[in-house]
Amino acid sequence: MSVVAATQLQGKPVSDAIKARLTAEVASLPSKVGLAVILVGDNPASQAYVGMKNKACIEVGISSFEHRLPASTSQQELHDLITSLNHDDTVHGILLQLPLPGDLDEFALLTHISPAKDVDGFHPVNVGKLLAGLPTLKSCTPYGVMEMLRFYKIDPAGQHVVIVGRSNIVGKPLAAMLVQKEDGANATVTICHSRSKNLTDITKQADILIAAIGQPEFVTADMVREGAVVIDVGINRVDAPDTEKGYKLVGDVAFDTVSKKASAITPVPGGVGPMTIAMLLSNTVLAYKAINGL
Ligand SMILES: NC(=O)c1ccc[n+]([C@@H]2O[C@H](COP(=O)([O-])OP(=O)(O)OC[C@H]3O[C@@H](n4cnc5c(N)ncnc54)[C@H](OP(=O)(O)O)[C@@H]3O)[C@@H](O)[C@H]2O)c1
Repeated sequence: MSVVAATQLQGKPVSDAIKARLTAEVASLPSKVGLAVILVGDNPASQAYVGMKNKACIEVGISSFEHRLPASTSQQELHDLITSLNHDDTVHGILLQLPLPGDLDEFALLTHISPAKDVDGFHPVNVGKLLAGLPTLKSCTPYGVMEMLRFYKIDPAGQHVVIVGRSNIVGKPLAAMLVQKEDGANATVTICHSRSKNLTDITKQADILIAAIGQPEFVTADMVREGAVVIDVGINRVDAPDTEKGYKLVGDVAFDTVSKKASAITPVPGGVGPMTIAMLLSNTVLAYKAINGL
């Protein structure tokens, strides 16, 4: 095992650079860019995310319209709100904060958002365009991973990228981005999931290993090839009674041991985390420009 610790790929310099570019771009546009965020219920994590999104909008000069609604809000009321936002010319991006409480039908509401304002990139129209290699609004977290690779000059072309996790918000769209026939992509991609056999045999073949599993420190050093690049998308809250908060955040990768074997690795927190909001802002500006024919 290598004794040299891996290079840490921090997300902040990447997200700061993107936000600086967006701030200049937003200031040069003929009218205000607007993002509407819908938060239903009082999930503390969702409230924290929405607060961070609002702050980031203000930072780059995007108008943020928050719709904080009680958990008792009905499907029809949300449907009607989305209809009105779809028709609101001051709103260029609509974000429905997930998860929704109770029996609300997430898919029905997400697919009611106009694809032109779907800044989360979850609408099947945008997912289809992504697969077809057409310009579109792309899912923010995987898009953020692509931007990190580009920033740190890690070219996936011809590399074997193994992604553990096949969710619609991370694993699958990330595979679709990496496999495109374009600069910054052109990877050979393998997707693994909970039904994959001999997982370690596959992950050990990765030049670039991406974990999006949702299991604390699941990826251990024996699963990683010496010198691989390791991207940890996971964010897991684990008990830490000695800390003030009583918990800490860890990734899907056992950082302490894997960082001794990898050539580069994203820490948690501070790695992929800051990228999601940066790409949300970027998508909102992109949506504004497309809506206004710019
Ligand atoms: N940085 C960010 O901003 C950001 C954004 C989104 C998510 N995340 C984090 O990323 C992680 C993944 O999120 P997600 O939404 O993609 O999670 P998810 O929807 O729960 O999907 C997890 C995936 O991991 C697979 N998996 C679970 N256990 C496995 C195992 N033992 N072996 C192999 N595969 C296994 C699942 O396989 P099956 O499909 O077979 O069940 C599934 O495909 C979470 O920690 C989440 O908090 C971070």
